[in-house]
Amino acid sequence: MLVELVAWAGIQADPAARRLGYAKAAVSLWSRRRRCHRAWAGHEQQTREFALSIAQACRHRDTAWLLGGGTLADLPLAELSALFKRVVIFDIVWLASARRRAKQFPNVELRQADVTGMVAPLAEWRAGLPLPIPSMRALAELDSVPPDCVLSLNLLSQLPLLPMEYVQKHGVSRVGAESFGRAILQMHLDALQGMSCPVGLVADARRIWRSRAGETVMSENALLGLSLPTPQREWRWPVAPRGEIDNETSLDITVQASRWDGAGSGR
Ligand SMILES: C[S@@+](CC[C@H](N)C(=O)[O-])C[C@H]1O[C@@H](n2cnc3c(N)ncnc32)[C@H](O)[C@@H]1O
Repeated sequence: MLVELVAWAGIQADPAARRLGYAKAAVSLWSRRRRCHRAWAGHEQQTREFALSIAQACRHRDTAWLLGGGTLADLPLAELSALFKRVVIFDIVWLASARRRAKQFPNVELRQADVTGMVAPLAEWRAGLPLPIPSMRALAELDSVPPDCVLSLNLLSQLPLLPMEYVQKHGVSRVGAESFGRAILQMHLDALQGMSCPVGLVADARRIWRSRAGETVMSENALLGLSLPTPQREWRWPVAPRGEIDNETSLDITVQASRWDGAGSGR
């Protein structure tokens, strides 16, 4: 479609991210959101409200980090820009539409970065060699100024998907790929839990496929078997209403939102 070509044309991503498929995934997310924006509105609203509740409770308000900015639809951008001196939003790929929107806020900065630190080493990796090992430092070193608030929004379950697909395409077994994916997920959770400021995490917990009659056809943990910290809120995200996958099936995600105050920070 013409609009998708336009979205493609404005994409910013480095060659390693493109090789693993992140540019294509960003256009596909943008396009899916255009088709499903009504069904997604409640989920985006819940995410914005939760993110804002954490930001408003922060005592120090110099810098906020938002991880997984994507289309910026689920971020309370204007409110965060008013609350903090500096808002830094990280994503591995940026669309021109997100860059245009962020420009409206002089203290909002979009940063092209891989929050796992895995993508560049994976693009260099060759079949037969050991897989790179996820490190917590990737998150802490995103910026030289430590944040006063970190929000990871609808990102966690996405982190292992393209890396797992890539290593499977290059001969790693499904079990091997899943264990690699689990290490990426665990690393992000550990790194968030190691931050010394308030942290909010909104993440997919379960995927539930339903029949036309609304009955559960299949259900799986969205985090390769890992559990999230005790959630403060939980809601349903109708991510693929009937017609997106096929005419019989819909897909819902159970989203969980958790927060904590930062390891021994006193912030
Ligand atoms: C489901 S989207 C998040 C939704 C987004 N907040 C929105 O409203 O569009 C997941 C986002 O995570 C980004 N992402 C996936 N893996 C990443 C990584 N390793 N580092 C940084 N961003 C990543 C994707 O590019 C995508 O924009």
